[in-house]
Amino acid sequence: MRVRLAIAAFMLATVPAAADDLISEGRTLAEENCARCHAIGAGDESAHEDAPAFRTLSAKYPVASLEEALAEGIVSGHPDMPELAFPPEQVAALIAYLESVQPH
Ligand code: HEC
Repeated sequence: MRVRLAIAAFMLATVPAAADDLISEGRTLAEENCARCHAIGAGDESAHEDAPAFRTLSAKYPVASLEEALAEGIVSGHPDMPELAFPPEQVAALIAYLESVQPH
């Protein structure tokens, strides 16, 4: 009985922490790869005038729909947007971060 309680407490403590880790990893990736053009946070301005602020992306499409683009390389018509492709763990982290900055 006591063991089962301990396991339940452990799971409650680690599940949100794991999500936070993913989001903070995603934030680091965004800072390193995207922030020089895009506003990545809740109130910053994009450094590149044509780059949409990440917090506005969900107004156009669900953020999760970027998963494929991030894995296979984001290609857009704009010549200033570099082609970036990420391995699956980093895609998950970036999506988690993008989700976290959308207005809910
Ligand atoms: C060198 C500047 C630059 C960097 C670095 C950059 N972007 Fe962009 N990004 C742009 C510009 C400019 C646009 C607008 C393109 C257009 O309007 O065609 C854009 C558009 C986008 C869009 C919107 C596409 C659409 O059709 O709505 C997404 C999503 C995006 N970028 C994600 C990212 C992510 C994620 C990163 C980092 C992993 C990143 N970008 C890095 C310049 C950049």
